[in-house]
Amino acid sequence: MLELDGLTKHFGGVRAVDKLSLSVKEGEIFGLIGPNGSGKSTTVNLICGVFPVTAGSIRFAGADITAAQPHQALAAGVVRTFQNIRLFSNLTVWQNLWVAQNGMESRKSENFLKRWLSGDAPARRSVEELLEFAGLIGRRDEYAGNLSFGEQRRLELGRALAAKPKMLLLDEPAAGMNLEEVGHLDQRLRKLVERGVTILLVEHVMELVMGVTDRIAVLNFGQKIAEGTPAEIQNDKAVQEAYLGGSSGS
Ligand SMILES: Nc1ncnc2c1ncn2[C@@H]1O[C@H](COP(=O)(O)OP(=O)(O)OP(=O)(O)O)[C@@H](O)[C@H]1O
Ligand SMILES: [Mg+2]
Repeated sequence: MLELDGLTKHFGGVRAVDKLSLSVKEGEIFGLIGPNGSGKSTTVNLICGVFPVTAGSIRFAGADITAAQPHQALAAGVVRTFQNIRLFSNLTVWQNLWVAQNGMESRKSENFLKRWLSGDAPARRSVEELLEFAGLIGRRDEYAGNLSFGEQRRLELGRALAAKPKMLLLDEPAAGMNLEEVGHLDQRLRKLVERGVTILLVEHVMELVMGVTDRIAVLNFGQKIAEGTPAEIQNDKAVQEAYLGGSSGS
Protein backbone atom coordinates (compact mmCIF):
# COMPACT_ATOMS: atom_id res chain seq x y z
CA MET A 1 0.00 0.00 0.00
CA LEU A 2 2.75 2.42 1.03
CA GLU A 3 6.34 1.90 -0.05
CA LEU A 4 9.22 4.09 1.00
CA ASP A 5 12.44 3.45 -0.88
CA GLY A 6 15.65 5.13 0.22
CA LEU A 7 13.64 8.05 1.56
CA THR A 8 16.00 10.82 2.65
CA LYS A 9 15.52 14.33 4.06
CA HIS A 10 18.33 16.66 4.99
CA PHE A 11 17.78 19.96 6.81
CA GLY A 12 21.11 21.70 6.25
CA GLY A 13 23.58 19.32 7.87
CA VAL A 14 20.92 17.33 9.75
CA ARG A 15 20.00 13.98 8.23
CA ALA A 16 16.49 13.92 9.62
CA VAL A 17 15.56 10.86 7.52
CA ASP A 18 18.35 8.78 6.05
CA LYS A 19 17.76 6.15 3.34
CA LEU A 20 14.58 4.85 4.92
CA SER A 21 12.94 1.92 3.16
CA LEU A 22 9.82 0.25 4.43
CA SER A 23 6.58 -1.15 3.15
CA VAL A 24 3.17 -0.96 4.82
CA LYS A 25 0.65 -3.54 3.66
CA GLU A 26 -3.01 -2.80 3.08
CA GLY A 27 -5.08 -3.30 6.23
CA GLU A 28 -2.08 -3.20 8.52
CA ILE A 29 -1.35 -1.06 11.56
CA PHE A 30 2.31 -0.27 11.16
CA GLY A 31 4.19 1.35 14.04
CA LEU A 32 6.98 3.88 13.54
CA ILE A 33 8.87 4.50 16.75
CA GLY A 34 12.21 5.88 17.89
CA PRO A 35 13.73 8.37 20.33
CA ASN A 36 12.95 12.10 20.14
CA GLY A 37 14.36 13.67 17.00
CA SER A 38 14.83 10.35 15.22
CA GLY A 39 12.86 11.45 12.14
CA LYS A 40 9.34 10.12 12.70
CA SER A 41 7.41 13.35 12.15
CA THR A 42 9.66 14.25 9.23
CA THR A 43 8.78 10.91 7.62
CA VAL A 44 5.07 11.70 8.04
CA ASN A 45 5.62 15.15 6.55
CA LEU A 46 7.44 13.67 3.56
CA ILE A 47 4.70 11.11 2.89
CA CYS A 48 1.95 13.71 2.93
CA GLY A 49 3.86 16.15 0.79
CA VAL A 50 4.63 18.88 3.34
CA PHE A 51 8.39 18.74 2.70
CA PRO A 52 10.04 17.95 -0.63
CA VAL A 53 12.23 14.85 -0.36
CA THR A 54 16.02 15.13 -0.64
CA ALA A 55 16.24 11.66 -2.22
CA GLY A 56 14.34 8.42 -2.51
CA SER A 57 10.77 7.66 -3.48
CA ILE A 58 7.29 7.21 -2.04
CA ARG A 59 4.69 4.95 -3.67
CA PHE A 60 1.12 4.78 -2.51
CA ALA A 61 -1.53 2.39 -3.86
CA GLY A 62 0.61 1.77 -6.93
CA ALA A 63 1.24 5.43 -7.79
CA ASP A 64 4.43 7.44 -7.35
CA ILE A 65 3.55 10.26 -4.93
CA THR A 66 7.15 11.32 -4.21
CA ALA A 67 6.57 14.82 -5.60
CA ALA A 68 2.92 15.13 -4.59
CA GLN A 69 1.74 18.34 -2.95
CA PRO A 70 -0.29 17.97 0.28
CA HIS A 71 -3.64 18.36 -1.51
CA GLN A 72 -2.59 15.70 -4.03
CA ALA A 73 -1.58 13.26 -1.31
CA LEU A 74 -4.92 13.97 0.38
CA ALA A 75 -6.80 13.35 -2.85
CA ALA A 76 -4.95 10.03 -3.17
CA GLY A 77 -6.34 9.09 0.26
CA VAL A 78 -3.37 9.88 2.53
CA VAL A 79 -4.64 11.73 5.61
CA ARG A 80 -2.64 12.75 8.65
CA THR A 81 -3.05 14.07 12.16
CA PHE A 82 -0.59 16.40 13.85
CA GLN A 83 1.73 15.92 16.80
CA ASN A 84 0.61 19.40 17.89
CA ILE A 85 -3.17 19.43 17.78
CA ARG A 86 -4.65 21.70 15.13
CA LEU A 87 -8.34 22.41 15.62
CA PHE A 88 -10.55 25.47 15.28
CA SER A 89 -10.71 26.27 18.97
CA ASN A 90 -13.45 28.89 18.49
CA LEU A 91 -15.73 26.47 16.68
CA THR A 92 -17.75 23.80 18.45
CA VAL A 93 -16.99 20.11 18.19
CA TRP A 94 -19.85 19.70 15.72
CA GLN A 95 -18.72 22.65 13.61
CA ASN A 96 -15.15 21.34 13.52
CA LEU A 97 -16.39 18.06 12.11
CA TRP A 98 -18.77 19.75 9.70
CA VAL A 99 -16.01 21.93 8.27
CA ALA A 100 -13.66 18.95 7.99
CA GLN A 101 -16.28 16.99 6.12
CA ASN A 102 -17.51 19.72 3.83
CA GLY A 103 -14.17 21.27 3.07
CA MET A 104 -12.62 24.61 3.71
CA GLU A 105 -13.32 25.88 0.21
CA SER A 106 -17.01 25.15 0.22
CA ARG A 107 -17.29 26.98 3.52
CA LYS A 108 -17.03 30.21 1.58
CA SER A 109 -19.49 29.30 -1.07
CA GLU A 110 -23.13 30.13 -1.25
CA ASN A 111 -23.79 26.45 -1.70
CA PHE A 112 -22.29 25.72 1.69
CA LEU A 113 -24.45 28.35 3.34
CA LYS A 114 -27.58 26.96 1.74
CA ARG A 115 -26.73 23.47 2.86
CA TRP A 116 -25.91 24.74 6.32
CA LEU A 117 -29.17 26.65 6.67
CA SER A 118 -31.35 24.00 5.14
CA GLY A 119 -29.78 21.37 7.33
CA ASP A 120 -28.54 19.02 4.61
CA ALA A 121 -29.66 15.71 6.13
CA PRO A 122 -27.12 13.20 4.74
CA ALA A 123 -24.20 15.53 5.53
CA ARG A 124 -25.51 16.01 9.04
CA ARG A 125 -25.93 12.29 9.49
CA SER A 126 -22.34 11.60 8.57
CA VAL A 127 -21.18 14.29 11.00
CA GLU A 128 -23.24 12.44 13.63
CA GLU A 129 -21.38 9.24 12.75
CA LEU A 130 -18.04 11.00 13.17
CA LEU A 131 -19.21 12.39 16.52
CA GLU A 132 -20.14 8.93 17.65
CA PHE A 133 -16.89 7.42 16.45
CA ALA A 134 -14.90 10.08 18.29
CA GLY A 135 -16.95 9.46 21.46
CA LEU A 136 -17.94 13.13 21.56
CA ILE A 137 -21.73 13.06 21.25
CA GLY A 138 -22.15 14.58 24.70
CA ARG A 139 -19.66 17.34 23.82
CA ARG A 140 -21.06 18.32 20.45
CA ASP A 141 -21.79 21.95 21.34
CA GLU A 142 -18.64 22.55 23.34
CA TYR A 143 -15.97 24.80 21.87
CA ALA A 144 -13.01 22.70 20.77
CA GLY A 145 -10.76 24.94 22.84
CA ASN A 146 -12.58 23.86 26.00
CA LEU A 147 -12.09 20.13 25.46
CA SER A 148 -9.67 18.07 27.50
CA PHE A 149 -6.47 17.09 25.76
CA GLY A 150 -7.70 13.55 25.18
CA GLU A 151 -10.99 14.84 23.76
CA GLN A 152 -9.12 17.15 21.41
CA ARG A 153 -7.10 14.18 20.16
CA ARG A 154 -10.35 12.30 19.52
CA LEU A 155 -11.80 15.27 17.68
CA GLU A 156 -8.67 15.43 15.56
CA LEU A 157 -9.13 11.78 14.66
CA GLY A 158 -12.76 12.47 13.78
CA ARG A 159 -11.67 15.34 11.54
CA ALA A 160 -9.13 13.10 9.81
CA LEU A 161 -11.82 10.49 9.16
CA ALA A 162 -14.02 13.13 7.58
CA ALA A 163 -11.50 13.21 4.72
CA LYS A 164 -12.27 9.52 4.02
CA PRO A 165 -8.71 8.23 4.27
CA LYS A 166 -7.36 5.08 2.64
CA MET A 167 -4.33 5.54 4.82
CA LEU A 168 -4.08 7.42 8.10
CA LEU A 169 -0.77 8.79 9.32
CA LEU A 170 -1.14 9.35 13.05
CA ASP A 171 1.58 11.42 14.74
CA GLU A 172 1.43 10.69 18.46
CA PRO A 173 -2.36 10.35 18.78
CA ALA A 174 -2.07 9.08 22.36
CA ALA A 175 0.05 11.96 23.67
CA GLY A 176 -1.63 13.45 26.73
CA MET A 177 -4.10 10.59 27.12
CA ASN A 178 -4.57 8.59 30.29
CA LEU A 179 -4.42 4.79 30.12
CA GLU A 180 -8.18 4.42 29.86
CA GLU A 181 -8.24 6.78 26.88
CA VAL A 182 -5.34 4.89 25.33
CA GLY A 183 -7.42 1.71 25.61
CA HIS A 184 -10.31 3.38 23.79
CA LEU A 185 -7.96 4.65 21.10
CA ASP A 186 -6.67 1.10 20.64
CA GLN A 187 -10.27 -0.05 20.02
CA ARG A 188 -10.94 2.84 17.63
CA LEU A 189 -7.87 2.07 15.55
CA ARG A 190 -8.93 -1.57 15.24
CA LYS A 191 -12.39 -0.45 14.10
CA LEU A 192 -10.81 1.74 11.45
CA VAL A 193 -8.87 -1.21 10.09
CA GLU A 194 -12.12 -3.19 9.92
CA ARG A 195 -13.48 -0.37 7.80
CA GLY A 196 -10.58 -0.75 5.38
CA VAL A 197 -8.22 1.98 6.59
CA THR A 198 -4.47 1.27 6.70
CA ILE A 199 -2.60 3.00 9.53
CA LEU A 200 0.92 4.29 10.07
CA LEU A 201 1.19 4.98 13.79
CA VAL A 202 3.94 7.22 15.18
CA GLU A 203 3.80 6.93 18.94
CA HIS A 204 5.83 7.02 22.14
CA VAL A 205 3.12 5.37 24.25
CA MET A 206 4.37 1.80 24.20
CA GLU A 207 1.20 0.31 25.70
CA LEU A 208 -0.55 1.37 22.51
CA VAL A 209 2.20 0.57 20.01
CA MET A 210 2.97 -2.89 21.36
CA GLY A 211 -0.69 -3.80 21.70
CA VAL A 212 -2.20 -2.56 18.47
CA THR A 213 0.44 -2.78 15.72
CA ASP A 214 1.10 -5.68 13.37
CA ARG A 215 4.66 -4.64 12.65
CA ILE A 216 7.01 -1.91 13.81
CA ALA A 217 9.99 -0.07 12.34
CA VAL A 218 12.41 1.70 14.68
CA LEU A 219 14.25 4.88 13.70
CA ASN A 220 17.38 6.27 15.27
CA PHE A 221 19.08 9.37 13.84
CA GLY A 222 16.90 9.04 10.74
CA GLN A 223 17.91 5.45 10.01
CA LYS A 224 15.88 2.31 10.39
CA ILE A 225 17.66 0.19 13.00
CA ALA A 226 15.07 -2.57 13.35
CA GLU A 227 11.83 -3.87 11.93
CA GLY A 228 9.60 -6.69 13.10
CA THR A 229 6.66 -7.77 15.18
CA PRO A 230 6.09 -6.04 18.54
CA ALA A 231 7.60 -9.06 20.31
CA GLU A 232 10.69 -8.99 18.09
CA ILE A 233 11.15 -5.25 18.61
CA GLN A 234 10.82 -5.54 22.39
CA ASN A 235 13.66 -8.05 22.45
CA ASP A 236 15.93 -6.23 20.00
CA LYS A 237 19.33 -5.20 21.41
CA ALA A 238 19.88 -2.29 19.03
CA VAL A 239 16.46 -0.87 19.91
CA GLN A 240 17.10 -1.11 23.63
CA GLU A 241 20.44 0.64 23.18
CA ALA A 242 18.92 3.42 21.07
CA TYR A 243 16.33 4.15 23.75
CA LEU A 244 18.78 3.93 26.63
CA GLY A 245 21.63 5.71 24.87
CA GLY A 246 19.81 8.61 23.29
CA SER A 247 17.17 10.95 24.61
CA SER A 248 14.34 8.76 25.82
CA GLY A 249 10.75 8.99 24.63
CA SER A 250 8.51 11.70 26.00
N1 LIG B 1 11.59 22.00 9.61
C1 LIG B 1 12.77 21.60 10.10
N2 LIG B 1 13.89 22.32 9.90
C2 LIG B 1 15.09 21.90 10.39
N3 LIG B 1 15.28 20.78 11.08
C3 LIG B 1 14.20 20.00 11.32
C4 LIG B 1 12.89 20.37 10.83
N4 LIG B 1 12.02 19.41 11.22
C5 LIG B 1 12.73 18.49 11.89
N5 LIG B 1 14.04 18.84 11.96
C6 LIG B 1 15.12 18.06 12.59
O1 LIG B 1 15.05 16.77 12.04
C7 LIG B 1 15.30 15.78 13.05
C8 LIG B 1 14.12 14.84 13.13
O2 LIG B 1 13.00 15.54 13.67
P1 LIG B 1 11.56 14.90 13.78
O3 LIG B 1 10.64 15.98 14.19
O4 LIG B 1 11.24 14.18 12.52
O5 LIG B 1 11.75 13.86 14.96
P2 LIG B 1 10.69 12.94 15.71
O6 LIG B 1 11.19 11.54 15.60
O7 LIG B 1 9.32 13.23 15.22
O8 LIG B 1 10.85 13.44 17.22
P3 LIG B 1 9.75 13.54 18.42
O9 LIG B 1 9.61 12.15 18.95
O10 LIG B 1 10.42 14.44 19.41
O11 LIG B 1 8.49 14.10 17.85
C9 LIG B 1 15.57 16.55 14.33
O12 LIG B 1 16.96 16.68 14.46
C10 LIG B 1 14.91 17.87 14.07
O13 LIG B 1 15.55 18.89 14.82
MG1 LIG C 1 7.64 14.01 16.08
